[in-house]
Amino acid sequence: MTRITLFIFAFFAYIALALAAPVPVVDGELVELERRITHTGRGTWFYPGLGNCGWTNNSNDLILAIGKGLYDQNKGSNCGQYVEIINTKNGKKAYGKTVDSCQSCTKNDIDMSPALFKKLSPLSTGQLTVQWHFMNKSWKP
Ligand SMILES: *[C@@H]1O[C@H](CO)[C@@H](O)[C@H](O)[C@H]1NC(C)=O
Ligand SMILES: *[C@@H]1O[C@H](CO)[C@@H](O)[C@H](O)[C@H]1NC(C)=O
Repeated sequence: MTRITLFIFAFFAYIALALAAPVPVVDGELVELERRITHTGRGTWFYPGLGNCGWTNNSNDLILAIGKGLYDQNKGSNCGQYVEIINTKNGKKAYGKTVDSCQSCTKNDIDMSPALFKKLSPLSTGQLTVQWHFMNKSWKP
């Protein structure tokens, strides 16, 4: 892209974000908007148990928790929704199911089961920079 196209692109992307931000949740409408947003944030792992969505999962399940702010903002409607996650360092990609909220996560961060984290990097890495976005509601791996 030339500098000017990049500038125009950035300008409209900014406007689009500014317009998208205050949209209230109406029957999951925000969830559909949310689907198009790619988040860049921190990826960590935890030992799953009974999640906020009401399901009990274990370390071998490919599941994740999204930030509590985002979870609450969407009134839990992301439960069961799949997420595509990319480790920005090595390009590895994985899919996990949203089953919980994460207190210490911002809306860009996710907390993953050990099995899911391992698809992106060894557990010993501890923390990753990830790019992720919601798949549509009907998507299954
Ligand atoms: C999580 O647990 C629920 C029931 O507790 C189960 O139905 C579901 O398949 C599990 N999710 C995954 C991704 O394994
Ligand atoms: C969801 O994604 C699948 C596969 O990408 C596509 O075939 C389907 O039409 C999409 N459904 C909706 C409701 O967007």
